[in-house]
Amino acid sequence: MNENFNPSRRSFVKGALVLGTVVAAEFLKPASVIAACVPTPPETAGPFYPVSFPVDNDNDLTFVKNQSQKAQGEIIWVQGRVQDEACQPVPGALVEIWQACATGRYNHPEDTNPAALDPNFQYWGKATTNEKGEYAFKTIKPGSYPANWFWTRPPHIHFTVHSRSHSPLTTQMYFAGEPLNPKDRLFRDHPPEEQAQCLVDFRKVKNVPMGTFNLTLK
Ligand SMILES: [Fe+2]
Repeated sequence: MNENFNPSRRSFVKGALVLGTVVAAEFLKPASVIAACVPTPPETAGPFYPVSFPVDNDNDLTFVKNQSQKAQGEIIWVQGRVQDEACQPVPGALVEIWQACATGRYNHPEDTNPAALDPNFQYWGKATTNEKGEYAFKTIKPGSYPANWFWTRPPHIHFTVHSRSHSPLTTQMYFAGEPLNPKDRLFRDHPPEEQAQCLVDFRKVKNVPMGTFNLTLK
């Protein structure tokens, strides 16, 4: 719960946290411009929360220790702020993410998707919020994947947040503008204002797409 960012990744984290508020551009406002302090809508963890954890467990999912190559796919940065309903930052919160690789495959024994696993992708990572409640991850944009024969999940990243003073939060972050979003059986069950809270608009910073996903705890 109290682990700090990996010092070797500090330059990445520092760079990732300087992005200002992005401007809404899609038919729904992205999460970064939603009125603050509204609790983030929870969503299912899904079936693919890790059953075992990688030795490499930092906030850079694009590189696995002892592997010579980087993960396949488009590298992205995801940053944000964990706050409470009074808009106060939540320092020391543990933020976990897990996701599919670029082909849409999870590193989980129950994932029956025949798509190839990426041995160079970390699949799961964690970060601890700083004194301003900020966190950051370097990862890749996940692929879409079949949940069943009639349902293809849009690209998304699973989040859990744990804080000693708040209820745990499990939710999912979606990419603004994805055509599969409005068809998704989980996403479409949320009212529009909740959908907007979980949509993130990515903009290139130094040629790398960066998105801001703020999380409000109860
Ligand atoms: Fe998923």
